[in-house]
Amino acid sequence: MAEAKKLFIKTYGCQMNVYDSERMAEALGTSGYVTTERAEDADMILLNTCHIREKAAEKVYSELGRFKPLKAANPALKIGVAGCVAQAEGEEIMRRQPLVDLVVGPQTYHRLPAMEAAVQNGARAVDTDFPEEDKFDHLPRGPRATRGPTAFLTVQEGCDKFCAFCVVPYTRGAEVSRPVDRIMTEARDLVARGVREITLLGQNVNAYHGQGDGGDWTLARLIRALAKVDGLERIRFTTSHPNDMEDDLIAAHGDEPKLMPYLHLPVQSGSDRILKAMNRKHTAESYLRLIERLRAARPDLLLSGDFIVGFPGETEADFEDTMALVRAVHYGQAYSFKYSARPGTPAAERETVADDVATDRLHRLQSLLTEQQRATQTGMVGRELSVLFEKPGRLPGQLIGKSEYLHAVHVRAPADQIGQIARVRVTESVTNSLAAEVI
Ligand code: 5AD
Ligand code: SF4
Repeated sequence: MAEAKKLFIKTYGCQMNVYDSERMAEALGTSGYVTTERAEDADMILLNTCHIREKAAEKVYSELGRFKPLKAANPALKIGVAGCVAQAEGEEIMRRQPLVDLVVGPQTYHRLPAMEAAVQNGARAVDTDFPEEDKFDHLPRGPRATRGPTAFLTVQEGCDKFCAFCVVPYTRGAEVSRPVDRIMTEARDLVARGVREITLLGQNVNAYHGQGDGGDWTLARLIRALAKVDGLERIRFTTSHPNDMEDDLIAAHGDEPKLMPYLHLPVQSGSDRILKAMNRKHTAESYLRLIERLRAARPDLLLSGDFIVGFPGETEADFEDTMALVRAVHYGQAYSFKYSARPGTPAAERETVADDVATDRLHRLQSLLTEQQRATQTGMVGRELSVLFEKPGRLPGQLIGKSEYLHAVHVRAPADQIGQIARVRVTESVTNSLAAEVI
């Protein structure tokens, strides 16, 4: 038998890219590839890229430059660019970087085996269509490699919200929800291979409206059906828009024990003026009311969010409104970014805030968010949590797992506990994790 060809995939950006990278590896598995952790050993290198901010997109070109010596040493090496930079820049990547053999967008990677064959024949291949067919119908369905106890599962892709700063509606396209039966089959398959926790993914996952028994299903209905799968212990979903947080989903946080008490609910800004300029279609007040309702359903819900500072037109008073909103919500953790003008988006045409002002605001916001994160973690000390053990820790005899609130937790426990859920008591809060003992 011919020796397997080796595939090295490097993934940037969001969790959906992590999921897509796995599926691309499976697709190329049908062309005889196995994955490798070492770029130097690879017959094909794929960069699965992110276009959300300028820095993320520029990284791709500097990374590609670093592969030059590898290609010099092994002229048969093929280099591909996948993901959102591929979608946004297409042919331009080929022009800017002659090393690249293949460019494939997020909606066409089921065509990778055919593209790979073309590339082996000396072609350079670009495919950034939004095809009629559903890629998931054309990807291998067979058993995937055995894996850890947590997995991502894409249920929805694309976004119709068109926030003024965001490239997602252009790179990932319009909102599309996968049918219920496909999701259920994929979930059962994951559970059969040892997965205990599934995170449902979508750019706008709570806008899920897939076809199932009796017509259109909501995300809440999907979660309730998944909760009936034996062996699946935990369900999460990300990422959500406040306007799609409907009553049945709020209720599920209160009455569905397998739905974890952690919610990533980006608000971006606390200023109504800026929210309007961002085309967010909600106010700071409506967001705060929503958080109240969620906390009424699930009092211990831990909240996470995304913030952009320095959006065009943001004044000091607007920024103070963001700080006030953060104080009012008290986040368990959150992500914050300096506004980055993205070509093709409406906000890219507007006058920007001075960089030093935006940087200063970012630091102030981040120190408030860090303070809240620390306070949340310190508040866990002495409390009982449940931990799903995922992998060995750095110290011998130690495992790392995740709490229901998504904190990384270090616990002394035997390695055969990986994949199990244990009750633990938190002993200490460390920088980005907790230490705990099995009860
Ligand atoms: N500049 C800065 N941050 C952005 N995000 C999206 N687009 C931009 C941009 N142009 C942030 C938002 C979003 C997260 C995934 O990335 O906060 O929720
Ligand atoms: Fe981008 Fe999210 Fe807004 Fe959609 S809802 S445009 S993905 S920030």
